[in-house]
Amino acid sequence: MSATNPPRDTIDRYAVIGNPIAHSKSPAIHAQFAQQTGERIAYDRLLAPVDGFAAAVREFIASGGRGMNVTVPFKLEAHALADRLSPRAAAAGAVNTLRFGADGIFGDNTDGFGLVRDIESNLGVALAGARVLLLGAGGAARGAVLPLLERGPRELTIMNRTAAKAEALVAQFADAARAAGSALTGGGPQAVEPRAYDVIVNATAGSLDAALPECDDRAYGAGTLAYDMMYGAQPTVFMRHAGSLGARTADGLGMLVEQAAESFHVWRGVRPDSAPVLATLRAQLGGQS
Ligand code: ATR
Repeated sequence: MSATNPPRDTIDRYAVIGNPIAHSKSPAIHAQFAQQTGERIAYDRLLAPVDGFAAAVREFIASGGRGMNVTVPFKLEAHALADRLSPRAAAAGAVNTLRFGADGIFGDNTDGFGLVRDIESNLGVALAGARVLLLGAGGAARGAVLPLLERGPRELTIMNRTAAKAEALVAQFADAARAAGSALTGGGPQAVEPRAYDVIVNATAGSLDAALPECDDRAYGAGTLAYDMMYGAQPTVFMRHAGSLGARTADGLGMLVEQAAESFHVWRGVRPDSAPVLATLRAQLGGQS
């Protein structure tokens, strides 16, 4: 062995991969986490062709990449690509966090954790013992079910425009609900009880096209937290509707920061402080027209 080993490049590389990717806030978030914690990382955006996800990941690994965040439209492909999955990624059927090591590609999903953490830690609403209504039964909803159940809500009702998809989630998570001591039900709009829930989470893609998911108005009350996984400079149509019925409202910006913080922890074993990062993003969002 030579006495003069070349200096080791101590900056570890990460990236967020998606298509499109130009507007991703993840590089800014992780740059702040790195500065805060003193972790030496570089974090870039990677635009992959829609038919070139696996090749782009392999190329990134070959060039020394240590991990990735995965966003639309590649979360299902990332799930398929991983050699090992965390239980929460297996349950979600989707992966938003990849970690590369000698043992191959590890796939995780921090989205649902981010949602739960934002509701409980940032917004101060306990999920244990709560009556929770989840609107939607697509990928975003499925990723939220296990993390929500793990907090021990009294009831979790999944309502979806297409009832069969909600019923399929109820079947998938029946054992987890039993273990949590939670009553898990679901279906179409009639699955919603006509009295106020403690927490309503909008996991439908409706906010993207300004559509209000169908839901009995009596589900919203003064003690309800109405949480939209989407965010923007203005409140979403779901938030405006819930607010008009007296509910407290929140958008998904905190979830974005908290899922990032959990990914950072998966990679680095260090938990950053999300509060100042969320405050910065909120200020920037408010400044947009
Ligand atoms: P994502 O990964 O964002 O969850 P998805 O898997 O395509 O996307 O799921 C979209 C979800 O939004 C579904 O629950 C969909 O309802 P259907 O299963 O009935 O299609 C829901 N959704 C989309 N547009 C909606 C609308 N205008 N009103 C109510 N639900 C809507």
